[in-house]
Amino acid sequence: MDFPFNVSLYFISLFFFIITGGLGQLGVGLTKLLREQFGKNNVILSDIRKPPNHVYHNGPFIFSDILDFKNLEEIVVNNNISWLVHYSAVLSAVGESNVTLAKEVNITGLHNILDIATKHALRVFVPSTIGAFGPSSPRDPAPELCVQRPRTIYGVAKVHAELMGEYYHHRYGLDFRCLRYPGIISADSQPGGGTTDYAVQIFHAAVKSGCFECYLRRDTRLPMMYIDDCLRATLEILEAPAETLPSRTYNISAMSFTPHDLTQEIQKVLPDFQVTYNVDPVRQAIADSWPMALEDSAARRDWGWKHEYDLSELVQAMLTHVTTGNQLVQAN
Ligand SMILES: NC(=O)c1ccc[n+]([C@@H]2O[C@H](COP(=O)([O-])OP(=O)(O)OC[C@H]3O[C@@H](n4cnc5c(N)ncnc54)[C@H](O)[C@@H]3O)[C@@H](O)[C@H]2O)c1
Repeated sequence: MDFPFNVSLYFISLFFFIITGGLGQLGVGLTKLLREQFGKNNVILSDIRKPPNHVYHNGPFIFSDILDFKNLEEIVVNNNISWLVHYSAVLSAVGESNVTLAKEVNITGLHNILDIATKHALRVFVPSTIGAFGPSSPRDPAPELCVQRPRTIYGVAKVHAELMGEYYHHRYGLDFRCLRYPGIISADSQPGGGTTDYAVQIFHAAVKSGCFECYLRRDTRLPMMYIDDCLRATLEILEAPAETLPSRTYNISAMSFTPHDLTQEIQKVLPDFQVTYNVDPVRQAIADSWPMALEDSAARRDWGWKHEYDLSELVQAMLTHVTTGNQLVQAN
């Protein structure tokens, strides 16, 4: 039988997305991926900042402050939103310097998201983090289920988000999905004040000046992931049939390395690159309380998670992107 339209596109267009806090390190990339999959006009990017021109002209953008319940609810209703990807956050290092703001955005904001999603039967994705573990969690690796007593307001808020999302799932049937991201490394978007930011900054320094001062000790091993793997994992968990997800919060893992490991890998390409260390006690204390590796067998078993980038592929990809980006800037 012939259909007058493309059936798969018809079903796909039943999903309308909004991404909160979408102008940060991860949101623009995820928006691009979702628009490729679900259609440009079915994915609204939102934030409280003004977008750069290339983002503004690439598809729907809207102002949305997650602390303004009514405004967010109006956007959800007027745009027939069915999926809410909640990326707004105040990250670990910034959170420690402004606990009041971190509490508001990361806890009150999350309550607004969960209440609106439940009221309007949305599905919700909220990322968690390695920061949701603490010094009393097993650190190498941190399993899916274990003691979680983080020492940062960021981590406390993320544990709260995991528990509240799972509670709403069991109590109200909310389709809540959550991945604990490692530190994410990206070339064309800047990190927003986390403890793993050095692993992005180091590439820009390596290409621009050939030297870098690192704020973490050389032997600080943390779980990390290239952005392409992170965004693909996110798309995969969004698309996974609900019945394949016995858990609602999953660890995902790709690689773990220290600043020294990363330096040595970069030096294979740029042998003159030099790193010095000037430890920031606040970020070092945070890193020392986080896991060195994540155990992610449940994600691999339940929805087929598989990373593609290890340390050497990560370094090649980052150096290529950062070098090309710099050449483009110089050419203009
Ligand atoms: N980047 C990482 O390495 C990493 C690792 C683990 C988890 N995560 C999580 O992934 C998500 C996205 O991270 P990111 O690195 O893109 O963060 P980011 O800090 O780069 O961006 C966060 C965005 O939230 C926006 N925001 C702040 N207050 C807001 C408010 N009141 N209303 C609406 N938006 C507001 C900011 O303007 C910013 O654009 C966050 O939830 C973060 O906790 C990120």
